[in-house]
Amino acid sequence: MGFFNWAAPLVRRFGDRFTTDDTTAIAGWLRPAVEPDGHLLDVGGGAGQLAALLADALNAHVTVLDPTAQMLSHVPAGDRVTALHGSAEAIPLPDDAFDAIVVTDAFHHFRDQDAAVAEFIRVVRGGGLVLVLDLDPRPLAMRLIRWGEILLGEPGTFMTPEQMCAFMAARGIEGECEPLRKADYRFLGRVEKRSET
Ligand SMILES: C[S@@+](CC[C@H](N)C(=O)[O-])C[C@H]1O[C@@H](n2cnc3c(N)ncnc32)[C@H](O)[C@@H]1O
Repeated sequence: MGFFNWAAPLVRRFGDRFTTDDTTAIAGWLRPAVEPDGHLLDVGGGAGQLAALLADALNAHVTVLDPTAQMLSHVPAGDRVTALHGSAEAIPLPDDAFDAIVVTDAFHHFRDQDAAVAEFIRVVRGGGLVLVLDLDPRPLAMRLIRWGEILLGEPGTFMTPEQMCAFMAARGIEGECEPLRKADYRFLGRVEKRSET
């Protein structure tokens, strides 16, 4: 986590990478669960650039959850975007509070991915969506990035798309993994909750 304290300005600049096409695609994947005025949680949302874009695109409320105060200090102020300090493994919010979760370039930073997924299932309503965008660690450039992150004290727990799909399914989120450009891929899954009756 210390890495993100000093890297916040860099990540702030890097976070501007989301293009109009990216935002349109991501909003399109989430829209089946997030209706206008709905609630989306951006876990590891950093400086909140994507959150602001998605709040506009979906006309929804977006909460940016991140454990790095320096990242959250860059979250753009707005009626529909809220910055919240906390980690994926212990989300400080009630059950069923969100229609969907989005996680971009952050899942491999979680130190306890098991606990994070359990929290996703808890805070997303039944029928809600979980969208994870992450990087496939197999290409050489990605292997180097992974080792760089580990040297900087990050966990570097990257998964291939196949591993991500299997990991989510084993914990109760069935979905699909699809390659995007370069090493990027997406996991999109639905949270099903058993009726308590
Ligand atoms: C590479 S940045 C990505 C930020 C943003 N999602 C984006 O795509 O631009 C990774 C973020 O994950 C956050 N992070 C690290 N560990 C986390 C955890 N356990 N729970 C939630 N967020 C975490 C970091 O503070 C950082 O803001």
